[in-house]
Amino acid sequence: MLKVSNRVTSMELSPTLGMSQKSREMKAQGIDVINLSVGEPDFRTPDHIKKAAFKAIENNFSYYSPIPGFVALREAICTKLKRDNQLDYTPEQIVVSNGAKQSILNVMMSVIDKGDEVIIPSPYWVSYVEIVKLAQGVNVFVPAGIEQNFKITPEQLEAAITPKTKAFLFSSPNNPTGSVYSKEELKALAQVFEKYPDIIILSDEIYEHINYVGKHESLAQFDSIKDRVVIINGVSKGYAMTGWRIGYIAAPLWVAQACSKLQGQMTSGASSIAQMASVEAFNGDQSCTQEMKKAFKQRRENAFDLLKEIPSFEINKPDGAFYFFPDVSKLFGKSCNGQMINNPTDLSLYLLEKAKVATVTGEAFGEPNCLRLSYATSEEIMTEAISRIKNALDKLN
Ligand SMILES: Cc1ncc(COP(=O)(O)O)c(C=O)c1O
Repeated sequence: MLKVSNRVTSMELSPTLGMSQKSREMKAQGIDVINLSVGEPDFRTPDHIKKAAFKAIENNFSYYSPIPGFVALREAICTKLKRDNQLDYTPEQIVVSNGAKQSILNVMMSVIDKGDEVIIPSPYWVSYVEIVKLAQGVNVFVPAGIEQNFKITPEQLEAAITPKTKAFLFSSPNNPTGSVYSKEELKALAQVFEKYPDIIILSDEIYEHINYVGKHESLAQFDSIKDRVVIINGVSKGYAMTGWRIGYIAAPLWVAQACSKLQGQMTSGASSIAQMASVEAFNGDQSCTQEMKKAFKQRRENAFDLLKEIPSFEINKPDGAFYFFPDVSKLFGKSCNGQMINNPTDLSLYLLEKAKVATVTGEAFGEPNCLRLSYATSEEIMTEAISRIKNALDKLN
C-alpha cells in the first residue's frame, strides 16, 4: 500500500505556521486580518548585512560550503561568544545549520536513542516536542504556570530526573512566555545538573538579544556543567534574519562532531551567501540589535498597558522575546451566539473570526489556559488589534 510513514503521520503540523497561513489566506480574500501569530521580527535585515550578502554573490561564494560552516563564520561565532557571553569556544565546537531549528534536530538525532527521556519545561516552543519524537525520545514535561512566571524550580527539575533522562531542553528568553531566567535561577538549575553528570543540556538562546532585564545569561557560564551544555543560537531573531536560515550550536567537541557527521548526510553546509551575511552580522556594527530591542521594549510597554485593562486576561509582563502569554481561562464557559469558548483554541478561532486577529492557542505550547500574542508589529497595529480583541470579548457572556 502506498502510504506516508508512521513517523510523519504521528507528527503534528506546526500550529504557529498553520495560523499564519490561515491569516494569509484570509488576507488574500481581501479580509483585513491583523496577524499576531507570527514568530519573527517585522524589521528588515540591516543594510550592512545585506551588503555582505551582495558582496558574497559578487565574489562567487556559490560553491558547497564546509559541512559545519565556513571557518570565518565559526571564528566570528567564537568571537561573539567571547565578546557577548565571556565564553571560550574553538571553531571545532561550532556547527552552523539551516536555522536553530535544524541545530536542535541535529543535536537530538545525535544524542538521543529510542526511549531516552528529554525533560522540557512547559510551556515550551512547539517544535521541541516533535523533534524529540522524531529522534524516538520520550518527552517529559515539567509544568510551570503563570503563578511561577512560567519558570521551573530546581526542585521540579530534580523530581523529573530518572535513570532514563538523557537531555534537558529549554529556552531563555522563552517562547511563548517571554520569561527570562536570572543568573541565580540558572545557577540553581546548574547545581541540580551537577549531581547528574550524564544529562546533556540544550540551552536555546535564540532570543538572546531581545531581553529587557539586562545582560543575557547562559547556562554554559557554569564551569561545573559547561562540558555538557549545548548552546543553540542563530541570527533569526536578533538580527531580523529569519529567512536567511542560519543557526548554530556551540557544543562539546563530541556533540559537534556527531552533528557535523549527521548534517553531512542530510543537508550539507548551510547557504554560502547566508553564511557570509552572518559573518557580518556577528562581526559588524552591533547597534542594530540594540535598536530593535529598544523598539520591541517600547511596543511591550504600550501593549502591556492596554492588555492589562482586559479583566478576563491575567497577564505577566514578559522580560524578553516578543510575545504576551495571558491566561485566558476566565473566559472558558462563555459564549457568543451559541459559539462556546471552552479552551484557548476556541478563543483563538473566535478572535480570528470575530475580531479578525490571528493569535496562537496556548495548547500548541503545552499550556491549556493561555493564548500567545506576538507584538512583533507596529504600535499602531497592535493598538488596533487589542481594541478589536476587547470588542470581541465584550460580546461573550
Ligand atoms: C525558542 C525558539 N527556538 C528556535 C527557533 C528557531 O529559530 P530558527 O529560525 O533559527 O530556526 C525559534 C523560532 O521561532 C524559537 O522560537
